[in-house]
Amino acid sequence: MKKASTPQAAPEVLVLENPIKEKEFTLATPKHSKSKMGLFDFLTQEIAIDLGTANTLIIHNDKIVVDEPSIVAIDRMTGKVIAVGRQAMMMHGKTHENIKTIRPLKDGVIADFDAAEHMIRGMIKMINPGRKFFQPSLKMVICIPSGITEVEKRAVRDSAEHAGAKEVYLIHEPMAAAIGIGIDVEEPMGNMIIDIGGGTSEIAVIALGGIVCDQSIRVAGDGFTMDIWDYMRRQHNILIGERSAEMIKIEVGSALPELDNAPVDYAVHGRDLMTGIPKEITVSYSEIAHALDKSISKIEEAILKALEMTPPELSADIYRTGIYLTGGGALLRGLDKRLAMKTKLPVHVAEDPLRAVVRGTGIALKNIERFKFLIP
Ligand SMILES: Nc1ncnc2c1ncn2[C@@H]1O[C@H](COP(=O)(O)OP(=O)(O)OP(=O)(O)O)[C@@H](O)[C@H]1O
Ligand SMILES: [Mg+2]
Repeated sequence: MKKASTPQAAPEVLVLENPIKEKEFTLATPKHSKSKMGLFDFLTQEIAIDLGTANTLIIHNDKIVVDEPSIVAIDRMTGKVIAVGRQAMMMHGKTHENIKTIRPLKDGVIADFDAAEHMIRGMIKMINPGRKFFQPSLKMVICIPSGITEVEKRAVRDSAEHAGAKEVYLIHEPMAAAIGIGIDVEEPMGNMIIDIGGGTSEIAVIALGGIVCDQSIRVAGDGFTMDIWDYMRRQHNILIGERSAEMIKIEVGSALPELDNAPVDYAVHGRDLMTGIPKEITVSYSEIAHALDKSISKIEEAILKALEMTPPELSADIYRTGIYLTGGGALLRGLDKRLAMKTKLPVHVAEDPLRAVVRGTGIALKNIERFKFLIP
């Protein structure tokens, strides 16, 4: 019944499982690291980190051992870390004057160097809770947004080193995302990846182990959350917290005003801006689609720009393979369909979009010698 506004010509949206799953990207671990495993493993710990604006994930020994929100809680008086990750998130927006919560990354890059270092340290500790006295030396691969400046890159490297890393390699996020969803990035074949995270949306065309063209814009999931916060304030005179705004996005967020699988209306609680009293209102997904429209249009523009810059041979590849979506933003209802209508290309949402980047970073860690696109 709600299909009226959908153009007939819209291509089919494929919500694929891992597109190249059968082909499992099993690249051999370099032999030398295997042979020295026993002793080496104790002295050197190899980890892959997706240091994201919203979430930080760490892979160690092929397993995701940390998956936490990127936030720390600090005691204002002593400057000591009280909590890291999920525990700190529970305090967010509910602190008193002695505690402050900090999200060290903004727009995909480190905004608070000190807090970032504390956070990385705290998360690395989560890997070895038992080891109090002996800290092994760390070899890390960390991903960075493709639009990052030299200064911002330096900050990532420095905070990793301050947190104990001896050897640091950087990898661009869209490259990691592509590897993470099983694309063979070294093939002479163009693939378009769009990673919509918390702070940045990264659009990249990848071929022959390199990023051929890319667009990185600082409009992504957190921007959607702020749009909702702002909309509630202006439209409904209700002041809500950041976490509530994010919940609205997850529960009834939508990129299209008409959906086939519509979520039911959602009850929002906050403070009435007129009376100052707590109140409840209900919102529908169509309203949220309206609130998010501008930001999504900006992402669409960046995608069109990236497609325009793509060399024709690679355009031909992308016409066949379509666009792959990763990052938490890929989970927004109707986004795949909206982008498919805009670009007239098939759009595939990765199977586990929040973890694609860290998976790819983990594979890069095992192939440091081989992957030339890693930045030493
Ligand atoms: N079901 C969902 N629907 C819509 N948005 C979601 C959903 N789940 C998570 N998100 C959003 O995805 C974002 C986090 O995604 P992700 O973990 O990929 O970002 P990040 O890697 O930390 O950020 P960045 O890559 O920009 O530094 C948050 O803004 C979060 O609100
Ligand atoms: Mg990310």
